[in-house]
Amino acid sequence: MARQSTFSGNRLEDYALALRQVPLLWESDLPLASNLANISALLKQCMDRVNWAGFYLWHEATSQLILGPFQGLPACTRIQPGKGVCGTAAATQRTQLVPDVHQFPGHIACDEASQSEIVVPIIRDGVVLGVLDIDSPRKARFDSVDRDWLEKIARSLAGLWPRAGARE
Ligand code: SME
Repeated sequence: MARQSTFSGNRLEDYALALRQVPLLWESDLPLASNLANISALLKQCMDRVNWAGFYLWHEATSQLILGPFQGLPACTRIQPGKGVCGTAAATQRTQLVPDVHQFPGHIACDEASQSEIVVPIIRDGVVLGVLDIDSPRKARFDSVDRDWLEKIARSLAGLWPRAGARE
């Protein structure tokens, strides 16, 4: 299990360690929610100046994102594709790096402390499974280094994600 002392404060080392820990934490016989709960805790612990870290999951039956496991304040539960930062990431299948959430048209405010945000789609075989959403109380907290590492983590998650029909 990851411990507080595991992370060094060096961003590159910590991302590399988090990436290695993703498959080690994942227990494929457990529900997706159990595994994503631990991954959200891992990311929240690994990153500084972060007030919310978690997932929105693509809900096929209603064609929208629904709130998944996270660390932070209670958040909005449903996001339509194309809406907000998360819905934009899902609809475009592109990471959204938002230095100032107040400048992002249609940003959905869940925690008023949030000033910047990064949302990374989790994609397998061209299909969006969900998005990884991380918020910071600092403007411009995230940059291309965060994007590159979080996209690696998202690719790892896509490989671990249960296939349709698997028990959840
Ligand atoms: N800000 C997001 C909504 C989710 S919260 O940040 C947890 C958005 O605009 O989609």
